[in-house]
Amino acid sequence: MIRIAVIYGGQSTEHSISCISAGSIMAELPSGEFEVYPVGITRDGDWVEGSFDPVGGATLPEVTAGRRVTLSASPATKGQFTDALTGEVTAEVDVIFPVLHGKYGEDGTIQGLFELSGIPYVGPGVLASACGMDKECTKTIVAAEGIPVAPGVTLRASGPRTLSGEQRERLGLPVFVKPANGGSSIGVSKVERWEDLDGAIATAFDNDAKVLVEGALVGDEVEVGVLELVDASVRASVPAKLNGTDDSAEGFYGFETKYLDDHVTATIPAPFDEELTRQLQDMAIRAFGALNCKSLARVDFFVTDRGPVLNEVNTMPGFTAISMYPKVWEATGLSYPELVRCLVDTALARAK
Ligand SMILES: Nc1ncnc2c1ncn2[C@@H]1O[C@H](COP(=O)(O)OP(=O)(O)O)[C@@H](O)[C@H]1O
Ligand SMILES: [Mg+2]
Repeated sequence: MIRIAVIYGGQSTEHSISCISAGSIMAELPSGEFEVYPVGITRDGDWVEGSFDPVGGATLPEVTAGRRVTLSASPATKGQFTDALTGEVTAEVDVIFPVLHGKYGEDGTIQGLFELSGIPYVGPGVLASACGMDKECTKTIVAAEGIPVAPGVTLRASGPRTLSGEQRERLGLPVFVKPANGGSSIGVSKVERWEDLDGAIATAFDNDAKVLVEGALVGDEVEVGVLELVDASVRASVPAKLNGTDDSAEGFYGFETKYLDDHVTATIPAPFDEELTRQLQDMAIRAFGALNCKSLARVDFFVTDRGPVLNEVNTMPGFTAISMYPKVWEATGLSYPELVRCLVDTALARAK
């Protein structure tokens, strides 16, 4: 029997998505083989004993107060959860599946705790998670690998909060303004007139101390799944092409378009010729390697008329039954339960 903690919720804006993803994953862990210990993290960051059904029929599920638990940071008691008040052991697990997106879940912080305790876990490690979370870091690292990225300017808290005339000329309109560490398109704006630029920059700075202003990439938005197998080889899925991102109400793949309407659909596999498909898969695997990823990642591109350009790398992509990551693997021949099983087995194999 494999004892597995599934951790979900968390302090990021993707709290509810995480609950839904965790519910789908737990439902696919066969009870004959897995003993699941659900752990929820509230929006305030409290760890509590969770539920096997974190959704419970809610549209925007949420982790609420409960029995507070602590994960040991010591290798001597690795994988041990205790009651935060009494110290009583509540569970001992062999592996952790942190189904957490965004800040404090996908950015290397919680991975650091797992490393300290020596407990195997699903997903990339500290460095890859932190680099994948920070869009400036991602772009610098993959560009050094020869993978094209969007032209842009990075604005820091200490410097100017606008673009110079030369920078405006170089990027041209429209530009996209986004927090360097973000997700779910929160704080992202498409700017079509220079008089709207400073407002968009201020909005992005409300979300982060570092902001990217990028020239607009024109072309299909495409997502590729990357997965590490038990033998440590790395595979890329067929690409998914998103339809309707640019003629949505927001004019791009914004928060509302992502979660609140069904305007955007996906074509999986993307209807590309073999060469383009192979090029995307090859770039996704190279980006995965350059960022020092393991386990899994979803690599997002724009296919421009000058070829694919990498937009971002998500190291714990959405994992609901209808999320893009499991869907591209299904189309590649790996079912949802097989995918979950592969991630857990690989985490356990790596720890041996
Ligand atoms: N340089 C760009 N050119 C064109 N569209 C962009 C650009 N950057 C972001 N977008 C649009 O904004 C969306 C969200 O930006 P993204 O960088 O993926 O941030 P998030 O991490 O919030 O998903 C993208 O899916 C895309 O529709
Ligand atoms: Mg994105």
